Amino acid sequence: MKSILITGGAGFIGSHVVRLFVNKYPEYKITNLDKLTYAGNLANLQDVENMSNYEFVKGDIVDGDFILKLFNERKFDAVIHLAAESHVDRSIANPTEFVLANVVGTVNLLNAAKHIWRENDDNLFYHISTDEVYGSLGEDGMFTEETRYDPHSPYSASKASSDHFVRAYHDTFGLPVVISNCSNNYGSYQFPEKLIPLFINNIKNNRPLPVYGKGENIRDWLWVEDHAAAIDVVFHKGKVGDTYNIGGFNEWKNIDLIRVICRVMDKKLDRTNGESEKLITFVKDRAGHDLRYAIDATKIKNELGWEPSLQFEEGIEKTIGWYLENTGWLESVTSGDYQKYYDDQYRRR
Ligand code: NAD
Ligand code: DAU
Repeated sequence: MKSILITGGAGFIGSHVVRLFVNKYPEYKITNLDKLTYAGNLANLQDVENMSNYEFVKGDIVDGDFILKLFNERKFDAVIHLAAESHVDRSIANPTEFVLANVVGTVNLLNAAKHIWRENDDNLFYHISTDEVYGSLGEDGMFTEETRYDPHSPYSASKASSDHFVRAYHDTFGLPVVISNCSNNYGSYQFPEKLIPLFINNIKNNRPLPVYGKGENIRDWLWVEDHAAAIDVVFHKGKVGDTYNIGGFNEWKNIDLIRVICRVMDKKLDRTNGESEKLITFVKDRAGHDLRYAIDATKIKNELGWEPSLQFEEGIEKTIGWYLENTGWLESVTSGDYQKYYDDQYRRR
């Protein structure tokens, strides 16, 4: 039985990857290692928690001794590494947390893999990264796998650094690695501090919708289950040492996307058309706010046969429907200190 470590499996994307692998590959033993920060929630995985090929381990990837011990005990054959601090605004408020989790945490995992893996064994260290490492685009062009790194936020700088370490362990120590860099994900189980679930939750509760700057920044949105499917493909068919860009070919200016969310919410909540838009509030821009991201996902399509399956119009309807049906989940993840933290951040804008 192949033993696979998935880190950050209790988070947004990680929970979709765990669900996919546990259900699709009964011959794999999946260990989900997660610290359960504010962003990690075992309720995201209730449907797989009793499966015989799944186990959860609570732990911190920043603790190098603990990680080495875990690898020595479990002898993982492969790693799919998603654990990270992932929110750009939090990285501006507290960069050091991001260096620890994203850089030191990744290096600890690389060291442990290097310690137990032998040449010619069938191992793989798969690092999940972001398009933000490439910096910001102007009106034209797209990020390809050859685009030079140019990170601007502490979050993207920490992810760029972790990508470099992963490549360095391949080039220096021959560690079998693969990296993918993906655009903005949306879908179920995303912590409601990120644009789409935050705005759904705020509209539901008649709270202001804080649009940074003029709302002119552009992001390329991909349905999270399509990202999980791409991760499956890269894990099984990707070339060791290579990088794959993953994206939705689906660019939206923030303000246009927000208006779509408002319209769908009005419809679903039986509100008068235009009611949710009244909550739009333009606030101080995010510091160092990248203008535009757009992924050229041609390589993964041509070489590995992956492409997005879902049209955005269907995906956003489905996503909004999910948050409105799962109010218990929404309330449980925003309970405790979160709402106070959010209100405090909002007041500062
Ligand atoms: P998330 O914040 O929802 O989840 C991160 C998970 O990592 C949480 O469960 C958290 O508890 C865990 N974690 C954090 N620090 C840890 C630590 N020190 N030790 C162990 N576990 C820890 O993030 P996400 O949006 O699901 O992103 C997952 C990965 O995908 C990240 O590496 C992120 O950089 C990358 N990514 C995200 C997006 C996106 O749009 N969300 C796009 C491209 C790439
Ligand atoms: O591109 C991939 C990245 O996408 C991932 O690597 C990150 O982990 C993920 O958080 C996401 O980063 P963004 O900064 O693009 O996502 P966020 O949802 O925070 O913001 C999306 C856009 O919306 C961005 O231009 C900022 C803007 N925004 C965001 C929030 C939270 C607002 O205008 N108001 C808000 O309240």
